[in-house]
Amino acid sequence: MSSLPHTLSGRLQAVAGVDPELRAATKPQFGHFQSNVALRLAKAEGRPPREVAQRLVEQADLSDLCETPEIAGPGFINLRLRTDVLAAAASEVRADPRHGVEPQPPQTVVIDYSAPNVAKQMHVGHLRSTIIGDCLARVLRALGHTVVAQNHIGDWGRQFGMLVEQILDEQLDVAALDLAGAEELYRRANDHFKADEAFADRARRRVVLLQSGDEETLAIWRQLIDISLAGFHEAYARLGVLLTDADLAGESTYNDDLPRVVADLEASGAAVVDDGALVVFVEGFNAPMIVRKRDGGFGYSATDLAAVRRRVGELGADRILYVVGSEQTFHFNQVFAVARKAGFLPERVQAEHVGYGMVLGTDGKRLRTRDGGTMKLADLLDAAEERAARPIALAAVKYADLSNSLVKDYVFDLDRMVQTVGDTGPYLQYAHARLCQLLRRAEAEQAQVGEAVTVLAEPAEQTLALLLTRFGETVAEVGQTLQPHRLCAYLYELAGALSVFYEQCPVLRSEGEVRASRLALCVTVRDVLAAGLDLLGIEAPERM
Ligand code: ARG
Repeated sequence: MSSLPHTLSGRLQAVAGVDPELRAATKPQFGHFQSNVALRLAKAEGRPPREVAQRLVEQADLSDLCETPEIAGPGFINLRLRTDVLAAAASEVRADPRHGVEPQPPQTVVIDYSAPNVAKQMHVGHLRSTIIGDCLARVLRALGHTVVAQNHIGDWGRQFGMLVEQILDEQLDVAALDLAGAEELYRRANDHFKADEAFADRARRRVVLLQSGDEETLAIWRQLIDISLAGFHEAYARLGVLLTDADLAGESTYNDDLPRVVADLEASGAAVVDDGALVVFVEGFNAPMIVRKRDGGFGYSATDLAAVRRRVGELGADRILYVVGSEQTFHFNQVFAVARKAGFLPERVQAEHVGYGMVLGTDGKRLRTRDGGTMKLADLLDAAEERAARPIALAAVKYADLSNSLVKDYVFDLDRMVQTVGDTGPYLQYAHARLCQLLRRAEAEQAQVGEAVTVLAEPAEQTLALLLTRFGETVAEVGQTLQPHRLCAYLYELAGALSVFYEQCPVLRSEGEVRASRLALCVTVRDVLAAGLDLLGIEAPERM
């Protein structure tokens, strides 16, 4: 089902030859949509705009969808959908288990998100990545795509040399640590590394041992991974996101691929040796990518090239999304450019960096704990749960993350976020719970709930019905643009239209067919709110 505005727009375009730029009418008395296309065409044609408007509406013949179009003022075309058409469209949304979300030609979409680092707690940046990635995964699955989540955890690299040495020095039982304990160990190892040159040397030799597969070193490294994963899992369970062990593809898993990456880069002529390091120059970047350092060590970029290769070659990606903070924009643009140049990333595969901004405190600075430390995910969720029950606190946090344009920094104002009024997650949950309550009362009164929406006499009912028919296209838009805030804005508008409807259209106090039809509308709005919240990764409780 193509949406009604889409169909109308297409019909007008066919006769006008240009996009009619259909807009929602500003007032109910103007109907549902307005177009100024006649004014634009009239100039070019040298004819009076009202005459052009008249000709367009006659040629377009919209009588199967609209009431007789009105030509208003200097030549605006006002369209009012026929209520039977609108009612049928809303009824379709009611009957459709997908509520108008249409499957698209299926793609394999790899989404790289969350990606915390071993022996460190997740911080707010990882929180954002996890929440945004989870939402995009849900939306793209709903659109019929195969989503492959890839949790690119930081589980490899130089820091493990000093971690392992510190553990051996302290004769520490790693298995007894939790993630917070591992993070303290990290800090001690780091201080030690800076203060003690002999320790630093041992740490460097330990990196070589790790990379060459020394069993004792690997065993300690694995223990660090295990306790970190336990901590990550706890965070995922707490957040209610879909990530599992099956989605893990940490940096270490690319170690064996790195020589192949280098060989391919050299064979394709993309890489050159510069001052002992292997680098790739790409046009448009002020610095080359360093693939292999002078000392033979591989860095973050090399691993990401290997990841592109695997995602295209083994996972069969048609599209790869990287949900990582905006501070890594340069890195990803460079990885994509180098991967294209080296032939790892064919033209038919789309690669997109879904960057996002910082989370700020109410003082406008980067969010910190009360004592000035970096804000850990657990601290943040604790703070939210001090203000509201768990599902509501989570809704507050997730919605705040998703409802702004991703690239913008946003202020983490918990007191505002947990309110059930305003543009918040709890407000949408509340709208849903209130509908559930109304429907429970309807059931208690044995009121008949219509299978279809049949009466749409009131403007408030029409607005609601029209919004319902836009759910599918809104979800499709999010899949395309990767902007979850559009879905948030849609749901917020829907909840707002619902309040106007409550004010102007009594439901249980109405009678007969009107009541059955209004109850059908209520059921559909409830279902769409629940489905929309689910796509945001937010629970929709039936009582609040
Ligand atoms: N672990 C990295 C960090 O915490 C994020 C990794 C993102 N994914 C990637 N393929 N580079 O900054």
